[in-house]
Amino acid sequence: MSERIYIKDIAAHVGEQVTIKGWIYNRTDKGRLQFLLVRDGTGVVQAVVFKRDVTPEMMEDARRVTQESSVIVTGTVRQDERAPGTPGGFELSVSDFKIYQLAEEYPISPKEHGIEFLMENRHLWLRSSQQHAILLVRAEIIRAVREWLDGNGFVGVDTPILTPTSCEDTTSLFETDYFGRPAYLTQSGQLYNEATAMAMGRVYCFGPTFRAEKSKTRRHLTEFWMVEPEMAWADLDEVMRVEEQFVSHIVRSVLKNRRAELLEIGRDLAPLERIEPPFPRIAYSEALGILREEGLELPFGEDFGAPHETALGEHFNRPVFVHRYPARCKAFYMEVDPENPELSLSVDLIAPEGFGEIIGGGQRTDSLELMERRIQEHKLRREAYGWYLDLRKYGSVPHAGFGLGIERTVAWICGLGHIRETIPFPRLLDRLEP
Ligand code: 4AD
Ligand code: MG
Repeated sequence: MSERIYIKDIAAHVGEQVTIKGWIYNRTDKGRLQFLLVRDGTGVVQAVVFKRDVTPEMMEDARRVTQESSVIVTGTVRQDERAPGTPGGFELSVSDFKIYQLAEEYPISPKEHGIEFLMENRHLWLRSSQQHAILLVRAEIIRAVREWLDGNGFVGVDTPILTPTSCEDTTSLFETDYFGRPAYLTQSGQLYNEATAMAMGRVYCFGPTFRAEKSKTRRHLTEFWMVEPEMAWADLDEVMRVEEQFVSHIVRSVLKNRRAELLEIGRDLAPLERIEPPFPRIAYSEALGILREEGLELPFGEDFGAPHETALGEHFNRPVFVHRYPARCKAFYMEVDPENPELSLSVDLIAPEGFGEIIGGGQRTDSLELMERRIQEHKLRREAYGWYLDLRKYGSVPHAGFGLGIERTVAWICGLGHIRETIPFPRLLDRLEP
């Protein structure tokens, strides 16, 4: 019996006989030689089946094996610089070959397919090298997110997914029946996090969030993952300091640990190598001035659309903070700017290269009176926010936090034109399957 190994570890087994369990990625027929590209999820290796080394049945199996058939291959690891696959330079001289299941004709071939077809076959498309690389980058981003927060005094807490009220705007709620009364899929864990922050100091929640967004854009999912740090005794400036450290750590981690995958995806690394704190900070009103110069006039009080964010990102060529948006284009919980009551102590982080807003956050209203007024102005049901108002009655403190969208971040770091490839099974306005 030979040892079963993973392809990523193959370099440590040169000269040994090993077994690989995987799938056929590709096959080249050279008569007495069959070249099988085998992938196992951790890499791709070339397995060479030579007539002289195997039984006639095995040779016949190697000839008839189809793309994506599941196989068990045993052979001796050889170093050969010309061998294709990752990590390059190794191949297997096969001594034993078994087909576990002979795949039916595989719908995705190396030829070009339309995006609709690929999306319908998302469950299979995930096996292709680019999608595989994107998911590895996504996993690294998530690992780095937790690493930074856990290492910087933030306690991981979990907030509910089924909620009785809205956190962001009431028009994008997914409603469900909760034993005869309405419940909503959470838009954000923030309100609950304000409670946990008063118990723990610095916290973060990380989970799926939902928006019944009727917009069909390349930046919007209806289900996405958001990490939300929240800090007691913190203000708007503190939020920006934390965000720039946090985001820089995420980018550095991906560059260090998933460089090969970024290159596989075709990402230009130079703009990512430039990411380091501090990030430029501009007020909303200054942003309007810059946009005007770029020919994108926007009346005061309007929120930015994708073209505005793209222009701002291009102007600075690195992530930029836009703070102090007019209160009327932000959520009800935003603290008011003491210098100008029309403005809120909010801040968005805009990614460069046209990827737009990746973080939204700011300082929260801590006065009971003002919060009650805001709930009324936003026509929210006061009864539903009783517990939230309690946080302003029992030891209210200045506090602040933010939410980073994982898929927007994956799109930016991977350089993807559309958010649909950033999550294994995207949920979009017109897509619930597979
Ligand atoms: O700006 P948003 O709506 O902020 C909040 O939900 C706050 N309660 C967060 C907080 O302060 N704790 O969303 C935050 C981020 C956005 O910047 C974006 O990255 C992402 O979540 N996001 C979406 N990503 C994909 N599809 C959507 N429909 C998204 N909506 C927001
Ligand atoms: Mg936002």
